[in-house]
Amino acid sequence: MTAGIASVGSYIPARRVSNEELSKTVDTSDEWIRTHTGIGNRHIASDKETCSYMATEAAKEVLEKAGMSKDDVDIIIVATITPDYRDFPATANLVQRNLGIGNIGSFDVKAACTGFVYGLELGRGLILAGTAKNILVIGVEKLSAITNWNDRGTAVLFGDGAGAVVLTPRVKGEGIVDSVLRTDGTGYDALNMPIGGTATPFIPGETPEEDLYIYMDGQRVYNFAVKVNVEIVMELMKRNGLTADDVDYIVPHQANYRIILAASRRAKIPMEKYYLNMEEFANTSSASIPLALAEMDRKGLLKKGMKILTVGFGGGLTYGGNYIVW
Ligand SMILES: CC(C)(COP(=O)(O)OP(=O)(O)OC[C@H]1O[C@@H](n2cnc3c(N)ncnc32)[C@H](O)[C@@H]1OP(=O)(O)O)[C@@H](O)C(=O)NCCC(=O)NCCS
Repeated sequence: MTAGIASVGSYIPARRVSNEELSKTVDTSDEWIRTHTGIGNRHIASDKETCSYMATEAAKEVLEKAGMSKDDVDIIIVATITPDYRDFPATANLVQRNLGIGNIGSFDVKAACTGFVYGLELGRGLILAGTAKNILVIGVEKLSAITNWNDRGTAVLFGDGAGAVVLTPRVKGEGIVDSVLRTDGTGYDALNMPIGGTATPFIPGETPEEDLYIYMDGQRVYNFAVKVNVEIVMELMKRNGLTADDVDYIVPHQANYRIILAASRRAKIPMEKYYLNMEEFANTSSASIPLALAEMDRKGLLKKGMKILTVGFGGGLTYGGNYIVW
């Protein structure tokens, strides 16, 4: 027995901001953003579109597609670094409230851009242990709320949205076959929210404005991202006796086209194997992998029995991947 993805869904905020529009308020250009990142647009949530709202909408779609009722859900896992409430309650609890499901468990996973990869493996573990049968795993972010719109180094990179799956039991050899979960905490300061936690609280009148938003050392994160992309893909293939030819798709965290291109060259895996959609959605952290899966599903690209690798990497520093037989 293992767990597999029964269906995929998403919620994308209607407001679409192109590079051209962004360059009216940020000192940048469409040409720079496209050539340095592969990003062309991002979707930005309105005030009403909180993380719990977007996650709930994605959850409704995924349940409908799976032909399941909300009462079939045993546990809700939400991967996010932009929860509705900073410390608690978990955004997953608000999704449980919104869906109106009683007697279930819910919790958030905070593993930045690797959050969905972690969430899938946690869900699989809970199904394997017999704790739950059907689990909603949702990746959702409202990164626009923690982006410094005066910092062109980060403002061009991020977007908002939600992607969701429902996990159900599957026979061994199908579904989520294997996962790798990793952390390098020594890199905690390469990409983070510097202020607002108990170690570095916000002090009115003292805390500089720019410390209230995402901080990123772009070059350090870039080098890390390329290295671990290769590492995770190679490890999942080796552990599961796969060659690059066996893999139908690699669905990476959608941070930057150049990161994926460099990783594909190093791993000697053709770019056609990597599914990319950062051109439309930019980097949506925990939401990016399920958003990509949902888009692939809409396009009819996902077929039963296909071998798919996910690979996540981001703040923490966290990284990891899943091997899924669709
Ligand atoms: C952020 C990133 C795109 C920057 O690309 P880069 O090629 O390293 O660019 P640099 O930071 O060296 O900057 C090069 C120049 O472009 C400028 N620049 C930076 N951002 C710019 C922007 N949005 N528009 C125009 N110019 C910009 C810099 O000021 C610099 O100018 P200078 O040479 O006059 O000093 C790149 O480091 C990256 O992708 N890092 C990983 C980011 C990421 O994916 N994070 C999330 C991981 S989960």
